[in-house]
Amino acid sequence: ATAAAANIGVVGLAVMGANLARNLASREGNTVAVLNRSPERTDALIAEHPEAGFVPAYSYEEFAASLTRPRTAIIMVQAGAATDATIDALVEVFEPGDIIVDGGNAFFPDTIRRERTVRETGINFVGAGISGGEEGALNGPSIMPGGSDEAWATLGPILTSIAAVADGEPCVAHIGHDGAGHFVKMVHNGIEYADMQLIAEAYDLIRRGTGKSPAEIADVFAEWNRGELESYLIEITAEVLRQVDAETGRPLVDVILDQAGAKGTGAWTVQTALSLGVPVSGIAEATFARSLSSHPEQRAAAAELPGPAETFAPLDETAFIEDVRQALYASKIVAYSQGFDEIRAGAAEYDWSIDLGAVSRIWRAGCIIRAQFLGRIAEAYTEQPELPLLMSAPYFADALSRGQAAWRRVVIAATAAGIPAPAFSSSLSYYDGLRAERLPAALIQGQRDFFGAHTYRRVDRPGTFHTLWSADR
Ligand code: NAP
Ligand code: ATR
Repeated sequence: ATAAAANIGVVGLAVMGANLARNLASREGNTVAVLNRSPERTDALIAEHPEAGFVPAYSYEEFAASLTRPRTAIIMVQAGAATDATIDALVEVFEPGDIIVDGGNAFFPDTIRRERTVRETGINFVGAGISGGEEGALNGPSIMPGGSDEAWATLGPILTSIAAVADGEPCVAHIGHDGAGHFVKMVHNGIEYADMQLIAEAYDLIRRGTGKSPAEIADVFAEWNRGELESYLIEITAEVLRQVDAETGRPLVDVILDQAGAKGTGAWTVQTALSLGVPVSGIAEATFARSLSSHPEQRAAAAELPGPAETFAPLDETAFIEDVRQALYASKIVAYSQGFDEIRAGAAEYDWSIDLGAVSRIWRAGCIIRAQFLGRIAEAYTEQPELPLLMSAPYFADALSRGQAAWRRVVIAATAAGIPAPAFSSSLSYYDGLRAERLPAALIQGQRDFFGAHTYRRVDRPGTFHTLWSADR
């Protein structure tokens, strides 16, 4: 066996694992052991990156022997069964006090289960959300680790050394125990779905409203990227819209099949929100919009259904585009407010103490939703850690009050023109729903009491009440 030489190991050397291993190896003081199920991948990585000084292992025994104690290994394999198999194999060769980190996209209940099982062996298990794709893994991802305080003491400095940096601060924080890190990573992806859908709706409205070309709309997004909407997603949107298909000479966006795929993390966010009773309507609409796009047979069947008679042409294109920008910003505030609400509810349900300000700070760089905007969220939670509703924080309340008239005009225009804007309109309904002094929920309580004797509460005195409905008629 190899003499222990590495202070950290990576198992799973596909795109993410290989890049993370190279990132680790590039940091002062790290020697990285690497292991992959198929040895060819290990050999290829070693051959391509001699500068990294990797310590290759071809069995779990060899891998364990190459690591100094407490052994620390980051797993970057396919989520699900592959992750379980890898954890089982590591548990066989590791000892109490060692640390197994799952950096894949696990569903947080799996992480809670794995942490409980592994803990019985005395080995620490940490589920860590790692965001930023290939480029982030190599140059600095946003990292959301869960797990125990004991594991964090060893792991913290290592993860801090490889994380993205925003305004001088590393984009990593110990989120909470067991599944907290993967829970927060899940909500990050849900917010990403909402953000992407809102941008797509803005593009569609401008295109169908003004007839501008994708390249012209790219300029609009590039301009927006210099203001309060500044973000990685707005930046890449401009680049995607500017791209021309080499084969046909058409805008690439017109050549790409309009059916959005999904790996399932958006659906997890919505399913979890439903169980927690948190209305993440923007994220849900974004997830459903992808599903809707991916049913060509239903879209063909619906193609003959009638739309509005009048066509849509704003009188003032510049003013319309500014309205869309404001509607996008307002809807974005709602989506993030809903996402942070889900994290708050998850923390209460699973007994995690999650610092929402820290979550927004570590999303400022390294991840897909990175944006200056997250600094504003951090400020809101710093000023008021127990903030009950993000969109009611002064900065966001002010932005919403400035943008709401434009937001309404855009939703009206979209509706009148028959242009789908599900995330814009559902976010506005959410905003109006929470704002409402009285909701028709009172009527629903009446209906529930009528058919199921579910009882209701009154506005004028405490207690629960039931009306003898049929006797009164
Ligand atoms: P991936 O395609 O998800 O997984 C491939 C890796 O898993 C390979 O190393 C493969 O080994 C290994 N593997 C598969 N089945 C296995 C099994 N039964 N036993 C042991 N190893 C097995 O790779 P990835 O895209 O690099 O992603 C890794 C993880 O990071 C995933 O959980 C993914 O969801 C997450 N993630 C991905 C991204 C991204 O942008 N791609 C971003 C963040 C997080 P072989 O070489 O032997 O096949
Ligand atoms: P990040 O945190 O960097 O966003 P991610 O959640 O793993 O990393 O994935 C980024 C995007 O790549 C996600 O939006 C996801 O697509 P879905 O929209 O379908 O969920 C996609 N993605 C995630 N894992 C992937 C994989 N293994 N292969 C290809 N695409 C993947």
